Amino acid sequence: MKGIILAGGAGTRLHPLTKVTSKQLLPIYDKPMIYYPLETLIDGGIKDILIISDPDNINKFSRLLGEGEDFKVKITYQMQDKPEGIAQAFLLGEDFIGNDNVTLILGDNLFVGDGEFLEDAIKSFKDGGRVFAKEVTDPQRFGVVDFDAEGQAKSIEEKPANPKSNFAVTGLYIYDNTVVKKTKNLKPSDRGELEITDVNNLYLQEGKLDVKIYEHYWLDTGTFDALLEAGNTIANLRKNEEK
Ligand code: TTP
Repeated sequence: MKGIILAGGAGTRLHPLTKVTSKQLLPIYDKPMIYYPLETLIDGGIKDILIISDPDNINKFSRLLGEGEDFKVKITYQMQDKPEGIAQAFLLGEDFIGNDNVTLILGDNLFVGDGEFLEDAIKSFKDGGRVFAKEVTDPQRFGVVDFDAEGQAKSIEEKPANPKSNFAVTGLYIYDNTVVKKTKNLKPSDRGELEITDVNNLYLQEGKLDVKIYEHYWLDTGTFDALLEAGNTIANLRKNEEK
């Protein structure tokens, strides 16, 4: 299993914080944001990790994290010239992925509270796709899963005006190697992006998308309030651990 952290993007909702630096370098309490998704992948047992970021920031990540020696993993880097969609990670990462399966995590997603969930999910993964959904109060901001009576995913809609459920797809995706081929056949959406929701729907059509509910604390830190909440949550956790 290879791992990719997607850590580019425009970060427009966090301007002016992100005007001259990457969102994923902003502090979450005592560490730069990217440490958290990196630790999620490492806790998942992944040892070979590609970090993708934009031309202005890619060198800062390599100065921060080097080749991964401090984390006992191998880290390499890839530039994304323009933020042309989350699924573009699989095209930029094609050589890195090679013939392996791949787990993608978004650099602004924090999965807090259970170091083992990803390891378990990867160990039992055979093929297809596996994603994690979480109940939220503002599903319109996310890809939203509609479940049938048996709890199987029926559809995923990207940022729907009228969401069919409150379950958002989080920024952590496990895929088999066919994800590269699937992404090559995607057309950019109206907003000009290769959409991860389109990838998920291709797996869904094949009957091969497993949607797990993430039981612990999850946060997408893309807004001021979420960023502040993330910092406070991590600070409280640390202080409780120290007690
Ligand atoms: P978003 O939060 O959707 O986009 P953004 O970070 O550019 O922020 P804003 O909407 O405020 O302008 O991106 C989710 C994550 O994926 C985030 O960590 C950035 C990353 N990303 C890329 O690295 N490249 C891309 O092409 C896209 C779309 C996102």
